[in-house]
Amino acid sequence: PSLSEILNLHDFEAIARSVMQEKAWAYYSSAADDEITLRENHAAYHRIWFRPRILRDVTNVDFSTSILGHKTSMPIYITATALGKLGHPDGELNLTRSAAKHDVIQMIPTLASCSFDEILDNAAPGQVQFLQLYVNKDRAITKRLVEHAEQRGIKGLFITVDAPQLGRREKDMRMKFDAEDPAEVSKNDKQGEVDRSQGAARAISSFIDPGLQWSDLKWFKSITKMPLILKGVQCWEDALEAYDHGCAGVVLSNHGGRQLEFARSGIEVLVEVVEKLGEKRGLHFPNEKFQVFVDGGVRRATDVLKAIALGATAVGIGRPFLYAFSSYGQEGVDKALTILRDEFEMNMRLLGARNIKEVVREMVDSSNIHTH
Ligand code: FNR
Repeated sequence: PSLSEILNLHDFEAIARSVMQEKAWAYYSSAADDEITLRENHAAYHRIWFRPRILRDVTNVDFSTSILGHKTSMPIYITATALGKLGHPDGELNLTRSAAKHDVIQMIPTLASCSFDEILDNAAPGQVQFLQLYVNKDRAITKRLVEHAEQRGIKGLFITVDAPQLGRREKDMRMKFDAEDPAEVSKNDKQGEVDRSQGAARAISSFIDPGLQWSDLKWFKSITKMPLILKGVQCWEDALEAYDHGCAGVVLSNHGGRQLEFARSGIEVLVEVVEKLGEKRGLHFPNEKFQVFVDGGVRRATDVLKAIALGATAVGIGRPFLYAFSSYGQEGVDKALTILRDEFEMNMRLLGARNIKEVVREMVDSSNIHTH
């Protein structure tokens, strides 16, 4: 189908499934075990309803905002997803270029198919990018990457904390990792030894350190001035620890359902994090000092607006952009971002919010969020 027939972010998934190589589809779409958390991520948004306001002159609406002090045209960012070249020869560059065009922020994965420097070299002047970090057992490798990222102007370090071991993604495990495929070899092999017997995920992840602990945050602070954000926090207790350890924020995420099966959705966790950190540390969300992000299952601007109303600063989106570039290259990503922009404009009007600050707690009814 031509791009003009695409009406929403779900559409990209159906098309990607029919055009992608089986192996790539398996890696992108798979999630842990029976994929219950994967489905819950999106389903959780169905338990939140709007309480719009009327008669507010919504002729002009502005949904730009800022993330860690950096401007973005909408309250979303492109989250880190590994192995972009499985879906398209330009891999992550599709995301870099589209992010520049639409003024949104890209989080670069440690396990990108393109090299880190290639991605940076393809960024527009002044383009804001974050780095997602998998911490290597060999800390010297991690230190070099972090220092290099800071030198090259990366604006935030998102340390993934929900993957001490990779989840069991059976669709992916049935595929053999192909050492000859240039999309898969890339720089990942440099991260450490590779087990090629079971799927892409297992093969590329053996370097990740399961020994990572809270006390390591001090070391990170000693090697970088970039703000540290923990990606993969799943309860208020750990969000509070992150705050007390001086992190700039947390991403409430279950890794797109790819890690712990029966992990709750980020949007559900958001409700308790906002409540408890308010109670225990007097924080009001959103704020500049400690920002809370959510990802997983976000497919509509209405999903994003629910998270913003509940206190999130912005929301990460993963698979829809992978499916978009796997099917249409950069133009697919451009289209996905255009769709989101149009959805934001309309839904802000219908909500009665003229800017992101006006998307407030009272605009949602989340009283059924914990009813599974
Ligand atoms: C991911 N995600 C991820 N996260 C991370 O911290 N490091 C990584 O290398 C990857 N790689 C990755 C690959 C693929 C194919 C997917 C689908 C996801 C998780 C990602 O950042 C994010 O948490 C989820 O993708 C969000 O859910 P949605 O938007 O995909 O539903």
